[in-house]
Amino acid sequence: MAVETLTITRPDDWHLHLRDDAMLAAVLPATAEIFGRAMVMPNLKVPVTTARAAADYRARIHKATPPGSNFKPLMTCYLTESLDPADLAAGYRDGLFSAAKYYPAGATTNSAAGVTGMRRIYRLLDLLQSIGMPILIHGEVVDKDVDVFDREAVFIERVLGPLRLDLPALKIVFEHVTTAEGVDFVESASGPTAATITPHHLMINRNAMFDGGLRPHAYCLPVLKRERHRRALRAAATSGNPRFFIGTDSAPHLRNLKEHDCGCAGIFNAPTALGCYAQVFDEENRLENLEGFTSHHGPAFYSLPVNESRVVLTRAVDVQCPQELSTSMGTVRVFLPPGGMSWRARLLI
Ligand code: DOR
Ligand code: ZN
Repeated sequence: MAVETLTITRPDDWHLHLRDDAMLAAVLPATAEIFGRAMVMPNLKVPVTTARAAADYRARIHKATPPGSNFKPLMTCYLTESLDPADLAAGYRDGLFSAAKYYPAGATTNSAAGVTGMRRIYRLLDLLQSIGMPILIHGEVVDKDVDVFDREAVFIERVLGPLRLDLPALKIVFEHVTTAEGVDFVESASGPTAATITPHHLMINRNAMFDGGLRPHAYCLPVLKRERHRRALRAAATSGNPRFFIGTDSAPHLRNLKEHDCGCAGIFNAPTALGCYAQVFDEENRLENLEGFTSHHGPAFYSLPVNESRVVLTRAVDVQCPQELSTSMGTVRVFLPPGGMSWRARLLI
């Protein structure tokens, strides 16, 4: 008989955008309700580039955390070419930073202050390697003459492959991997290499952006790819390989800013993410590997203990989930799988 309920170690979200102010207050409860920890992305309007800014942002997150929740935000440092290495190292040593985030300048939301070439920060990367601080990489080239669907594969060839060889002990997470080439790279790379995979890249392909018309709510970066890539991601995620783990890339934008002449990139999936992952593993007949992906592989890579509490997942027919989240500034569309949700999640207390 098919499994109807599953109790797993409480998961973490290793790639999350929480934003700030009213948006932070609106989106945080959905994550804190299920996930034990989250790696919080630093691409605020004013990027988090100093230990001081990270401490302040963390305090604002704590303030917005629902009473009684023991959710723990893990902070990241936005790498720039003018970063102070001493501040970065001290922030990591003091446990304020858990990782550093690499945005190619211009690749995505609030990435203008990012890096214009990996080699320009090799001195910082040497430092990361020597102190054991992981680098989380948005892996796309930004050249306008490279087709948007090829930007990840070209990044691997031009940037990530050489980096892996140049800094063999650097802890690298290839964030939100979206291609078969990315999966191959992570599977065969030498040295400490891992990748996060989003629920939306596992559930929909690029057709979703053009389904009967232009669909801004299916637009994210790296952009959805063709079906063969989605299949490669599903195989990797559900394989049990500890190099692949959860990272939702939940990235809220107001509806009016997505349904726009130049719509923002990002999919808000925090309320449905864990159910979506369960659904994918169920569809692939790999539910036995779900807990590794959601709850064990990430902590192992980051040398952190797994969470103590547990989450119950229940299969149900057509799980209902609100399509939108209200904020004081407007609404945010919630990611729902195209064929409906078949798993719901609840934290055991
Ligand atoms: O779709 C995305 N949205 N991709 C990113 O890399 C950033 C994110 C955001 O911050 O909106
Ligand atoms: Zn992201």
